[in-house]
Amino acid sequence: MEIIEVKNYDELSTVTADLIEKQIKMKEDSVLGLATGSSPVGTYKELIKRNLDFSKVRTINLDEYRGLAPDNKQSYIYFMRDNLFNHVNIKDENINIPNGLAEEGFEECLRYDKCIEDLGGIDLQLLGLGLNGHIGFNEPNTEFVKGTHVVTLSQSTIDANSRFFESYEEIPKEAITMGIKGIMDAGHIVLIVNGAKKASILKEAICGPITPKVQASILQLHNKVTIVADKEALSELKKTF
Ligand code: GLP
Repeated sequence: MEIIEVKNYDELSTVTADLIEKQIKMKEDSVLGLATGSSPVGTYKELIKRNLDFSKVRTINLDEYRGLAPDNKQSYIYFMRDNLFNHVNIKDENINIPNGLAEEGFEECLRYDKCIEDLGGIDLQLLGLGLNGHIGFNEPNTEFVKGTHVVTLSQSTIDANSRFFESYEEIPKEAITMGIKGIMDAGHIVLIVNGAKKASILKEAICGPITPKVQASILQLHNKVTIVADKEALSELKKTF
């Protein structure tokens, strides 16, 4: 596990964009596992600025809310188009994200796992960290769920998401998320974390026991993880060394 300490969010974004740029230049048809949330927004901005060739790149997103149409501004497909896809030369057929409107959740999960398999696995998986230690929408649980699955969002995630919705009723309570196997099978995992509010969960994830209660703790078992984090996010971790 490599930890890169950065000064601030701007540096976090440039360093992470460097890693993604390197991946695309090394393999033009790379499979990038992508994340949503506020953490990767700066990275996507930076990638757009660099005018990279995405014409052969394939992407697979971690998750999507259930029940939100693609034209809903809070859906993750809308977020991805708005923050990255509409601004680079990626082909539409190379974009993959769970269908939040699929009526048969289970079927959609099987389709998504097959999609990961058909892509030949993920070369680089970008991850943010939830305040409760979730990765994608793999919420604190009694087990690590391997495959893509429908998840009932935890109260802490619903609360964290409330800032994006006008009323509590509008906040989705379910999502479809890639499972732990899809993430752990990636060749390289890049976890980006910023801000003091993530300091204690980052420490738990990296130094604590490997437990499904903190889903990100499974990353301790992966042999190529790069954590890009700012001083604030690393503050608790540093106290232990
Ligand atoms: C959501 C996403 C996660 C993301 C998390 C953290 O829950 N499903 O993939 O990592 O938010 O969000 P933020 O980066 O805004 O802290």
